[in-house]
Amino acid sequence: MTVTHSMTGKTVLITGGTGGIGRAAAIALASMGARVGITGRDRPRAERAAAAIARESGNPAVDVFVADLSSQTEVRRLADEVLAAYPRLDVLLNNVGGFWAHRHVTADGLEHTFALNHLAPFLLTSLLLDRLVASAPARIVTVSSGAQSMGKIDFDDLMGEGKYSGQRAYNQSKLANVMFTYELARRLEGSGVTATVLHPGMTSTAFGAEDTARGWGPIIAVMRLFMKSPERGAETPVYLASSPDAAGVTGRYFADRKARTSNRASYDPAATARLWQVSADLVGLPVDAPH
Ligand SMILES: NC(=O)c1ccc[n+]([C@@H]2O[C@H](COP(=O)([O-])OP(=O)(O)OC[C@H]3O[C@@H](n4cnc5c(N)ncnc54)[C@H](OP(=O)(O)O)[C@@H]3O)[C@@H](O)[C@H]2O)c1
Repeated sequence: MTVTHSMTGKTVLITGGTGGIGRAAAIALASMGARVGITGRDRPRAERAAAAIARESGNPAVDVFVADLSSQTEVRRLADEVLAAYPRLDVLLNNVGGFWAHRHVTADGLEHTFALNHLAPFLLTSLLLDRLVASAPARIVTVSSGAQSMGKIDFDDLMGEGKYSGQRAYNQSKLANVMFTYELARRLEGSGVTATVLHPGMTSTAFGAEDTARGWGPIIAVMRLFMKSPERGAETPVYLASSPDAAGVTGRYFADRKARTSNRASYDPAATARLWQVSADLVGLPVDAPH
């Protein structure tokens, strides 16, 4: 990745910087001079990743935060630790997400895909929002997927209790990332904090490896040969997190560093407001706060 501008003096938090797209984004942003915080579930693995990011970027300012983001208690603890560690936060990159072929339930009793892919960034962003606003101009970048275009928010069965499909749950969660971002951008108007969302492109990572659909292992192994490297997959999130060209851009969906049209449902303000309301209820936040 070609570095063309400086992030010196900026602080960036990347969820899931231990591998895949998040790790590559961490290396790129640290190479530009940013202090980078990464998160992971396992301290030794996260410490190893941070050491490698520091080595590969030549920037020792890499911090580790440990949290399982499928648990709201852990998201809240993570937010507290970040607020204690970072007096300013210039960029929040909501990157963690995944695909699970079978239905799993979190510690909070919620369907895992929706909880991790959508509710975790919703809650973490909400808890860090005042710090981001105080650090303005600041950026919130959320990693969605092209799968958002096939998504449908099933307000009658958000948790897939009726009939679970890994693909349907993933598509729904990734559409939720887009709708969250558009609603967030509306709420942040005039604050100096932008919210953008993106598709990184098909990227060769550990994506989906925790619970792969039966028979798909060998097919995915072949598909990986044609996928982007993590470095290339990180190009659009890094662009949105750091490029002067993306300054002030808000409420837009990107792929290949270009603004694109997203799922038609994402442009329905009544639906994005309803999703916000339901999400706030599920994480126990008041719907109007913060911002
Ligand atoms: N790869 C693709 O082709 C592709 C395409 C479209 C969109 N995306 C999106 O890109 C984002 C990054 O995916 P990736 O491909 O880089 O995936 P990945 O290689 O599986 O990396 C996932 C990261 O998330 C962390 N993570 C997973 N479960 C977690 C949990 N419960 N709590 C906290 N952290 C957790 C992992 O950290 P630890 O294991 O260390 O905890 C790891 O750092 C996701 O939002 C995904 O939906 C990927």
